[in-house]
Amino acid sequence: MRKVLLVALLAATSLSTAAYANGKKIGVSWASFQEERWKIDEAAMKAAIEAAGDTYISADAQSSSEKQLNDVDALISQGANVLIINAWDKDAIGPAIEKAAAEGIPVIGYDRLIEDNRTFYLTFDNIQVGKIIATEVMKAQPKGNYAIIKGDPGDPNAGFLLQGMMSVIGDAVKKGDIKIVGESFSDGWKPENAQKNMEQILTANNNKVDAVLAENDGMAGGAAAALAAQGLTVPLGGQDGDKAAINRVARGTQTVSVWKDSRALGKAAGEIAAALGEGTAMDKIPNVVKFSDGPKKIEMNAILLTPTALTKDTLNLAIDGGHITKAEACEGAMPDVAACK
Ligand code: GAL
Repeated sequence: MRKVLLVALLAATSLSTAAYANGKKIGVSWASFQEERWKIDEAAMKAAIEAAGDTYISADAQSSSEKQLNDVDALISQGANVLIINAWDKDAIGPAIEKAAAEGIPVIGYDRLIEDNRTFYLTFDNIQVGKIIATEVMKAQPKGNYAIIKGDPGDPNAGFLLQGMMSVIGDAVKKGDIKIVGESFSDGWKPENAQKNMEQILTANNNKVDAVLAENDGMAGGAAAALAAQGLTVPLGGQDGDKAAINRVARGTQTVSVWKDSRALGKAAGEIAAALGEGTAMDKIPNVVKFSDGPKKIEMNAILLTPTALTKDTLNLAIDGGHITKAEACEGAMPDVAACK
């Protein structure tokens, strides 16, 4: 009797293991954890990977493309069945993709495009992000001298964001209503490099800058510091939904931040990795689309999530969405911020 029960129990256990666990190793190579969003991406991704019965293994390249190649090698040696790569540099990552392909390991390009159709591209619609930044800043400042603070030149998102921005302000630039008085890349997306760039643009233009489009919130913070040092506050846009930036929106020192809910992106990555690990073809992933807007126009299997504009009128979205508390968002808020009343 006892033996029968034990056999039955064992059978039940192994059955449930077979039903719920893929038992695959998902190797995740992070570019850096400089911006606060990446920890949110990571937590969501890890939870989704574990919910699918897979194991999360990871490495942090700490903003080094050489380290990232070593990291991917190490993840492969540890037995990764699927790789999720948040590439530090779009070109330098090439050998990692070759190696994965040679080993038959599927790769997801996470957040940043790896323009090789052997990888699956999972991101937010970055051109749309750029459009939102420019649209909101242009509403506040339809004419005048604009500065554009771009991200790292090795990240394709720097180009997509600019493309989105230019699609909004391009006509006004042609007409002469808007003059771009400075446009610079900021190495490593570093706020201090953005601050230096902003200082140089201000100096070169005798402080005559009427609006700033920054490609992320960390750099918007750097630009805001450079402006504040000259006693200036001008319409300013960024993205990432950084808590400090959301609070700047409430305080009136930043016009817009674009929130790309990293919880959704991380979760999608875990789910796609599980499907790829089980042998699902990239073009059979649910909701897949074709994307060919990269610099090389290569057609990719992709999923592009929709970003959210956070302005003083829509800050409630980040609070209601559980991304930030009302207290964090609203400290020192201007009286006209509805979500903070
Ligand atoms: C981009 C990403 C942004 C921002 C930036 C700096 O690729 O889309 O959200 O964080 O990198 O890491």
